[in-house]
Amino acid sequence: MIVKSDKEREGMRKASQVVKAALEQAEKFIKAGVTTLEIDAVVEQVIRSYGATPSSKGFHGYPNASCISVNDVVVHGIPSLMTVKDGDIVSVDITALLNGYQGDAARTFAVGNVSEADKKLIDAAKAAFFAGIEYAKAGNKVGDISAAVQLYTELNGFGVVRALTGHGIGHKMHEPPEVPNFGRHGTGSPLKSGMCICIEPMITAGDWRVKIDRDGWTTRTMDGKNAAHYENTVIITDGEPEILTL
Ligand code: MF3
Ligand code: CO
Ligand code: CO
Repeated sequence: MIVKSDKEREGMRKASQVVKAALEQAEKFIKAGVTTLEIDAVVEQVIRSYGATPSSKGFHGYPNASCISVNDVVVHGIPSLMTVKDGDIVSVDITALLNGYQGDAARTFAVGNVSEADKKLIDAAKAAFFAGIEYAKAGNKVGDISAAVQLYTELNGFGVVRALTGHGIGHKMHEPPEVPNFGRHGTGSPLKSGMCICIEPMITAGDWRVKIDRDGWTTRTMDGKNAAHYENTVIITDGEPEILTL
């Protein structure tokens, strides 16, 4: 169901706390010289320590517990023996399943000293999320969130990825409705109290167009410029939304 019961919402909160903890440990662990596979191992360990499972692993054949996307990789970077370097920006996206409920969140972390431009890019992804969530309220429409994310992003000179969207979430990682990061006010599905959605701006320093590597997952900017990602799992209410992964 699109609208979650009290019991389901409680399950979503608990699953989201696992994701939050895994992101916190990933952030602490990330430094120049660690491999993205080592970061993934930390994520998987935290998830399993809660008795949860990493939903990404095996999802349409995806091999790992997290998506780790460095610099021009927007999303779905596959952990590897590649080490992260001073000045890199590293997006970590984690979905965990606990007692039948999913939580999903992403952050972009700076490794050591990153450029001012990259700091602004990271901050803009977060700010775009908060611009969107202003409209995440029962009675509004999904397009109100989308339009606000797009407007904020583009007014600040960044690009907003079109090929991938946010989504509903519940017993499954991806449920209706889609929550695009671009669109028009007053369009799309109505938001209802008790709905659970992931709002996840994926924004680019240059053009918004992306391409997928031959591994079928790694999604990069076409122009090779950097990208940032910021995602939370959110419950819609009649008033302030509840952000579960913060
Ligand atoms: N966590 C991603 C999202 O925000 C989905 C990752 S699916 C995977 O929707 F298979 F790539 F892990
Ligand atoms: Co995610
Ligand atoms: Co998501």
